[in-house]
Amino acid sequence: MQKYLNRQWRLASRPIGDIKESDFEYREEVIPHPEDGEILVRSIYLSLDPTNRIWMSDRPQYMPPVELGEVMRGLVVGVVEESKNPKFQPGDLVSGALGWQDYALISPQNLLYLTKLPQPLTVPLTAFLHPLSFIGCTAYFGLLDIGKPQPGETVVVSAASGAVGSLVGQIAKIKGCRVVGITGSDEKCQLLVDELGFDAAINYKTADLIPALAASCPNGIDIYFENVGGEILDAVLTQVNLNARIPLCGLISTYNAQELVPGPYNFGQILMQRVLVQGFIITDYLQQWDVAFRDIGEWLQEEKIKYTQEIVAGLENAPKAILKLFDGDKMGKLIVKISEEP
Ligand SMILES: NC(=O)c1ccc[n+]([C@@H]2O[C@H](COP(=O)([O-])OP(=O)(O)OC[C@H]3O[C@@H](n4cnc5c(N)ncnc54)[C@H](OP(=O)(O)O)[C@@H]3O)[C@@H](O)[C@H]2O)c1
Repeated sequence: MQKYLNRQWRLASRPIGDIKESDFEYREEVIPHPEDGEILVRSIYLSLDPTNRIWMSDRPQYMPPVELGEVMRGLVVGVVEESKNPKFQPGDLVSGALGWQDYALISPQNLLYLTKLPQPLTVPLTAFLHPLSFIGCTAYFGLLDIGKPQPGETVVVSAASGAVGSLVGQIAKIKGCRVVGITGSDEKCQLLVDELGFDAAINYKTADLIPALAASCPNGIDIYFENVGGEILDAVLTQVNLNARIPLCGLISTYNAQELVPGPYNFGQILMQRVLVQGFIITDYLQQWDVAFRDIGEWLQEEKIKYTQEIVAGLENAPKAILKLFDGDKMGKLIVKISEEP
């Protein structure tokens, strides 16, 4: 019976504090069939991202939140199963915000937001949810356009073993910087230094952060790629150099907070050291994404960039898997496998 049904996870309630599995409602619907101009896409891989937590809330944000009862929003790579649109053929691989479900029916208007993937593939399909997706663009433009790294400068990145952070550190190495990653376990620190070429890594759960940063960054910090906020930002601010840059990409330590988060307490350092702090949302760079994909694609071919992914099997496990983003129980980019690749 299963193959005739479209399994879905819909948003049941706005989380209070940490996400709970009960914030999602499981639903089964009949698989729709396309009318004129529409296509039907089968989901293969679903990207789980910290921003999912933002979309689940109704706090001020950069796009409309997911409505209660709506299929949970999420980036998917999938394959066209049926097409009533001459621009798409069955078998075409695509990516887009198709949601937490087995199948998505795409209207002609929404085809604009769908990207056709290059076939035959020269990289694994999951690369299109990681280095060759908005994630890669986030690392690329945040670091290069806002951070403006110069050879010999010191770059620190938080959530360094994660999807964005691991790419930031490797791109900074390509640009000739000293790179220090902050992450949440010794195993992750080892991955950064031994596999991804970081110069040093700090386990923020066990280290005394300020002396650890001082030891790892003997020439101070020129760029801090901010993914986390809170105590880590405060510690970094004590070590920033004159004219340091802070691309403000994310603040994951605050996403589950139930009240306004105070700080940063070392805010004065931004004045004293004339630090540039620039928030950005990756859609700001949409017109330039191709530039990032070209460069990242080349670095992948040249094996100057590696990527680690944690793939959880089964759409049914998505509500449990998303918790891994917040308890750190995963390595690299978090992905759910929904169905088999063609
Ligand atoms: N501005 C944009 O357009 C944009 C686009 C994409 C992503 N982002 C942001 O970039 C950041 C990283 O996203 P990602 O997709 O690469 O996720 P990710 O790093 O793959 O996963 C999140 C990681 O954050 C760390 N973390 C979670 N809670 C933490 C806490 N309280 N304190 C310290 N570390 C914590 C955990 O790693 P540890 O084991 O190291 O603790 C976890 O694995 C997020 O803040 C996200 O919102 C922004």
